[in-house]
Amino acid sequence: MKKFFITTPIYYVNDEPHIGHAYTTVAADVFARYYREKLGEKNVFFLTGTDEHGEKVAQAATKQKKSPKEYADEISEKFKSVWKLLNIKYDYFIRTTDPEHEKIVQQFLQKIYDNGYVYKGVYKGLYCVGCERFLSEDELVDGACPLHPNIKPIYKEEENYFLKLKELSEKALKEIQKGTYKILPQERKNEIVSKIKAGVNDVSISRFGIKWGIPLPWDKEHIVYVWIDALLNYYSATKIAPEKATFWPPDLQLLAKDILWFHALLWEALLIAAEEKLPETIFAHGFFTIDGQKMSKSLGNVISPKQLIDAYGVDGARYLLLTAFPFGNDGDVSLKKFTEKYNADLANGLGNLIARTAKLGERLDNNPYKRQEAGGMRHEDFNGVEKKIINYQPEEALKIIWNKIKDADKKFNEEKPWELENEKLEIVLKDSIKEIIEIAVNLKPFMPQTAEKIIEIFRAEKIESPSPLFPRK
Ligand code: MSP
Repeated sequence: MKKFFITTPIYYVNDEPHIGHAYTTVAADVFARYYREKLGEKNVFFLTGTDEHGEKVAQAATKQKKSPKEYADEISEKFKSVWKLLNIKYDYFIRTTDPEHEKIVQQFLQKIYDNGYVYKGVYKGLYCVGCERFLSEDELVDGACPLHPNIKPIYKEEENYFLKLKELSEKALKEIQKGTYKILPQERKNEIVSKIKAGVNDVSISRFGIKWGIPLPWDKEHIVYVWIDALLNYYSATKIAPEKATFWPPDLQLLAKDILWFHALLWEALLIAAEEKLPETIFAHGFFTIDGQKMSKSLGNVISPKQLIDAYGVDGARYLLLTAFPFGNDGDVSLKKFTEKYNADLANGLGNLIARTAKLGERLDNNPYKRQEAGGMRHEDFNGVEKKIINYQPEEALKIIWNKIKDADKKFNEEKPWELENEKLEIVLKDSIKEIIEIAVNLKPFMPQTAEKIIEIFRAEKIESPSPLFPRK
């Protein structure tokens, strides 16, 4: 692999950023940081952004008595500032209201229209604004959308343009089965394969009678369906962001299982219809609940990234999100569990090890690691950490690092360096410091500020005790 293009979903601006959005984005940041070290800064393209068209956003803006654009400007800024707080180092932030994106979407659709994959028809059915899609009868639970039971589906009958998804799905299925379009985890791929095999209908790619969106180039009264507009961000960004054209196609697209179907089939079908190269891997992680319940405004259980950062620090928040449950699985989180884990792993674990070692390090006249290049300290694969990252298991990678921390702590307790003096103390400490720097180097993609701080402490001319990295809660 020479380059690495990674994407997150672009988040709807109908709502403020919450920890669900942060979960995917922090994970993407970890992968991007890891590959920057492997391949060089210039060879990584990390894309995120906001999804700003569609009825959902237009309705949210009306509620606030704002124009959709005004509203989108405001919320997309909020996403940007939250990513800054979480130390997310993305390379480009795309907004679907960017005029350049709008132009590229039109060109792309014109091409698939010219290629014969679009026709005009009539759609009749129930539409869920929460999902921004039509629902089939058999999907309804008590007459409502299973994901949005509080939003009544609307009956619509309108003239739409349709994509020949049925025809394209046969080609798409072949690519998925061959593994040229990888869908991970395997169980999710199996679900997608059976769903495609069960039969797929053509899908409408335009809306009539709405204003907030991109007009179809060949029939301007029709507006591009928001999901088509949104999916194409991954493509348009490579043409809009400076010097990123060569990054196409994406190497890794992260998202949660809620929107896998759109990415697994619709996205792939669009690219096939336009004769574009397909992404390498789509990884759908699980969905988490909070205290056993779906996170939702009406339940009042939404946790904001800012809340996490205020409670546990930036790297604390990143660590707790990533280790809450295995990346591909569903899970449950709670502030209580976060605090317990923070105290166990960060305050008593990593924080305590650094504090003890630095305290004794103060006794060393000569720091054996002063000014040493920390990069040179990375083992080829620190006990399998890299393998876990490459296999999309950030929580497992962190587990390996935490086992190292536990080992180092145990060694400390056994060797009791505080009872030693002079040369003997130096020998034991030298080993401990070496291990700590290795731990820090491996922590870099996950907890960048903490890693830097640790490296700085132990590479200084004279080691000095820092203030606690993770104060107890
Ligand atoms: N705008 C669409 C995506 C278009 S991408 C071409 C959208 N936006 S969203 O704001 O609803 O974000 C959904 C994504 O946010 C999920 O796929 C996931 O990445 C993240 N999550 C939101 N809530 C989450 C959980 N409770 N758990 C895990 N991930 C969560 O869909």
